[in-house]
Amino acid sequence: MNPERSEQLKRFYITTPIYYVNDIPHIGHAYTTIAADVLARYKRLCGYRVFFLTGTDEHGQKVELTAREGGETPKELADRVVERFKGLWKRLNISNDGFIRTTDTVHKEGVRKFFETVYNKGDIYLGEYEDWYCTPCETFWTETQLKDGKCPDCSRPTEKLKEESYFFRMSKYQERLLKHIENNPDFIQPPSRRNEIISFIKGGLKDISVSRTTFDWGISLPMDPDHVIYVWFDALINYITGIGYGDDEEGFKRFWPADIHIIGKDILRFHAVYWPAFLMSADLPLPKKVFGHGWWTVDGKKMSKSLRNVVEPNMLIEEYGADALRYFLLREIPFGVDGDFSRKAMIGRINSDLANDLGNLLSRSVTMVRKYFNGIVPAPYEKGDFDEGLINMSARVITGIDPLIDGLAFNKVLISIWDIVRGANKYIDDTAPWTYAKKDDGKKRLSTIIYNIMESLRIITLFIYPFMPETAEELWRQLGIEEELSGQNINEVKEWGKFKPGTQIRPGRHLFPRID
Ligand code: ME8
Repeated sequence: MNPERSEQLKRFYITTPIYYVNDIPHIGHAYTTIAADVLARYKRLCGYRVFFLTGTDEHGQKVELTAREGGETPKELADRVVERFKGLWKRLNISNDGFIRTTDTVHKEGVRKFFETVYNKGDIYLGEYEDWYCTPCETFWTETQLKDGKCPDCSRPTEKLKEESYFFRMSKYQERLLKHIENNPDFIQPPSRRNEIISFIKGGLKDISVSRTTFDWGISLPMDPDHVIYVWFDALINYITGIGYGDDEEGFKRFWPADIHIIGKDILRFHAVYWPAFLMSADLPLPKKVFGHGWWTVDGKKMSKSLRNVVEPNMLIEEYGADALRYFLLREIPFGVDGDFSRKAMIGRINSDLANDLGNLLSRSVTMVRKYFNGIVPAPYEKGDFDEGLINMSARVITGIDPLIDGLAFNKVLISIWDIVRGANKYIDDTAPWTYAKKDDGKKRLSTIIYNIMESLRIITLFIYPFMPETAEELWRQLGIEEELSGQNINEVKEWGKFKPGTQIRPGRHLFPRID
């Protein structure tokens, strides 16, 4: 793209959490990253200049412990597991523009600079921490917050810490934070989560410990190298070092503040309370939105190594393909709500929505273009029954998609795209094109019917592209459209009637064979 033109484009910056390298990626991680990818791809289709960042969180006591248990250094563990994440994102066609590792030098330097800024502001002081720590959650707790002596979030044992520590003056930001959340109803989404955070803040914010001295695996403090920076303080800063903070100020200013941080509900407090307070202290603008999505269980149970029920995305991709997994995860449950994963449900969706509805629509349509028009898309001539219904429905769906995407209502977007898919199949049944093919004077009406079906497919393909990029590319190829799909500007081509008559289709493989 011409650099000048790209400078003028509206910008959109979107992030996922950076994942811990003590665990290999599972469908929970894939879920967040796929959702972010759909949003990134959709915004690019709308003409935005997008930056989509993901990465890995490599410091902290948990990673150090896991490495030690496996007889590796933490960096060896990180170097190994980071490849698992990168490999999975490639297989899932994740279109991230950046990948940040917290062991990257630019990140470490950015974190030190940020820490110093906050320190110079007077928001960091040296004290002593004496309370409890949950290593699996990398979270500090007070005695009264514990539940039966265990971590209130994950119910695992905590350890008593008594060490010298630097503290961040969180309490100072309580009122400003509350005001920000109240004045910006969209800042924390969905609304139920927003209420949780408001009551958490109203309960009183305590200053938080932001350094540790009893282990080494982290970024040492610029002013006191015996301390390493608390892993969450380190990790959150990835959202700015990943676009140039401390290194490439222009790049940083181009994309900050983030338009959205997509995360799971488990880490909302860090993103909706700690992170904004850190940013306020550093005099930086806050992200526009933090969305905490729901939690996947498997056959009704929490996924865990000990239950051996962790769902490995690579296996599902091998069996059903990346797009089927992408589709299933976003179609099955509303994004803000918890859901249960089962193979049965996934196969059900593949067979009904993908094989039956979408796959059949394509194969019926190309067969008719081939049979009645020698593979060339005809021009519409003669209007008739059912045309208006199909065209109006498609227009209605298209108008509704933008707001649904902005609300991250992915399942509703897919449901409405499938209104067109099913509507087009029904249009074929209702208009019965084969009857016109048999009539001497049926050609004009037949042309319109076939054109309308192909036009529905073109529109469907545009809108499923962010969700199922491989499938959409294959559909696009079969439709015979020359221009690149990923280069389309959806606002210029989403209206009815843009399919060029005379296009030579290229029939190909069946999409989504049925699974028994
Ligand atoms: O928390 N269902 O990393 P993490 C849905 N490093 N989403 C799930 C999930 C499930 N069962 N399991 C995991 C960390 N996730 C920190 C983040 S960010 C500055 C630092 C997803 O490897 C979900 O997005 O434990 C969740 O928030 C994230 O993985 C946690 O990944």
